[in-house]
Amino acid sequence: MIEEGKLFLGGSRNPDDSFNKPEYLELKFGNRHGLITGATGTGKTVTLQILAESFSNAGIPVFCSDIKGDLSGIAAAGEEKDFLLKRAEQVQFSDYEFAASPVIFLDLYGEKGHRVRSTVAEMGPLLLARLMNATEAQEGVLNIAFKIADEGGMALLDLKDLQALLNYMGEHAGEISTRYGFVSKASVGSLQRALLVLEQQGAEYFFGEPALDIRDLMRTTQDGRGMITVLAADKLMNNPRLYATFLLWLLSELFEELPEVGDPDKPKLVFFFDEAHLLFDEAPKVLIERVEQVVRLIRSKGVGVYFVTQNPLDVPEAVLAQLGNRVQHALRAYTPREQKAVKTAADTFRTNPAFDTQEAITALGTGEALVSTLEGKGAPSMVERTLIRPPSSRIGPLTDAERRDIINRSPIAGQYDRDIDRESAYEILMERAEKAAKAEAAQREAEEQESESAAGRWSLPGFGDDEPTKKSAGRRTSTRQRETVVEAAMKSAARSVASSLGRAIVRGILGSLKR
Ligand SMILES: Nc1ncnc2c1ncn2[C@@H]1O[C@H](COP(=O)(O)OP(=O)(O)O)[C@@H](O)[C@H]1O
Ligand SMILES: [Mg+2]
Repeated sequence: MIEEGKLFLGGSRNPDDSFNKPEYLELKFGNRHGLITGATGTGKTVTLQILAESFSNAGIPVFCSDIKGDLSGIAAAGEEKDFLLKRAEQVQFSDYEFAASPVIFLDLYGEKGHRVRSTVAEMGPLLLARLMNATEAQEGVLNIAFKIADEGGMALLDLKDLQALLNYMGEHAGEISTRYGFVSKASVGSLQRALLVLEQQGAEYFFGEPALDIRDLMRTTQDGRGMITVLAADKLMNNPRLYATFLLWLLSELFEELPEVGDPDKPKLVFFFDEAHLLFDEAPKVLIERVEQVVRLIRSKGVGVYFVTQNPLDVPEAVLAQLGNRVQHALRAYTPREQKAVKTAADTFRTNPAFDTQEAITALGTGEALVSTLEGKGAPSMVERTLIRPPSSRIGPLTDAERRDIINRSPIAGQYDRDIDRESAYEILMERAEKAAKAEAAQREAEEQESESAAGRWSLPGFGDDEPTKKSAGRRTSTRQRETVVEAAMKSAARSVASSLGRAIVRGILGSLKR
């Protein structure tokens, strides 16, 4: 069934239920994105599984997330079961075999896969604002925070770095406002509280180093299969916004880092975005526009993005319009909203005179779907009512022992499993605060002495960077005092970290770092 340049999806059926023809997804249109939809229990995960298996077999690395744990079985060979063999026969899958796919497990919590992290700096202000559910004013403050850090080359690695910088901004709100634009103490305070909430939700696990190197998502095995990176997301789903932001960050990293390839013979990577509604739920318009832009542009980097969600209405029109390969499983149509979803879903297909699309959507069986893929010059094929082929790997979860074994043998074993805590904003600002406190104390002491000797001389409270030497300290700090704070912050930060980043800071469409 492995025809050159095509993935076998299953067999379509005639109105009398007899076999019609095999249905394929053409690899050269694999980067033209896709959509898998359907109600719970209709076969979405298995469809994702057979697609991931097939892309991998064709040498294409895959990224996907495992929301319920039931996708982990993709790393084990399936077992011979009657319903699978029957399905294989129905779709005329003549060379059906059981086999495991090569998998790397990732887990933000490091429990069900290798730890995966990003730094605050790499994520950038736009995505962080989304993660923190920031208001516009708060987002403005975050932007300024990043500006201060970016300009000064102050590394924002983990949440305590951002917390330290916000503290600093709160304390120096006046000066920062004159220099960068209005920073209200109230907004800073709200952001600090939002950060605490994030920490409590376990996001602190995620921020830090070593950050994921996206080249690790692009691996192939020695026998030429694409590695399937599975993000264990069951625990992560307790924080849906972190889940969605993390996936979005990955997508934006891929977009910023991969070279242009135009329209390749086959994709360089296929990215499944499961529970895609979380990406768009209550997302601000500007973010949706940026996502739309990234999805449109990432195609020429050879990345195919496949959204998986219950309802096609979950995906904004502008994004939906770009999803060329569609697998629509059954939808219910009881409520008006459901009926509308069915109609919308039906309207996106090129109709087939043999059946009524809308009616078919509600009548599909489990593991059956309306399928339309791009063909010819890139036009959608006529929709076909298709039985999806059975997977070669196991349907259902791995055992803990099986998973452990795969994690231990993984090509990235050991690479991300330990924390690195290098000098960053937190340490820099802590050190500076200490110095400032010392300087102030020293100055007070000096002032007291001076006022004894030369009564009437005034001085401003200082917070300079330099260790004042005893006697003359008072005068020196007060004359230097005006240029300190922000400037000094930058200088010392620039010294310590510009070198560690080693590059000018440019941010991409979604605000993540550009290399
Ligand atoms: N293509 C298929 N071939 C064989 N069985 C399937 C297929 N698709 C779905 N099934 C059966 O239906 C069940 C539910 O499918 P699943 O993909 O988990 O649904 P969803 O992800 O939409 O909730 C599976 O556990 C499996 O038993
Ligand atoms: Mg599922």
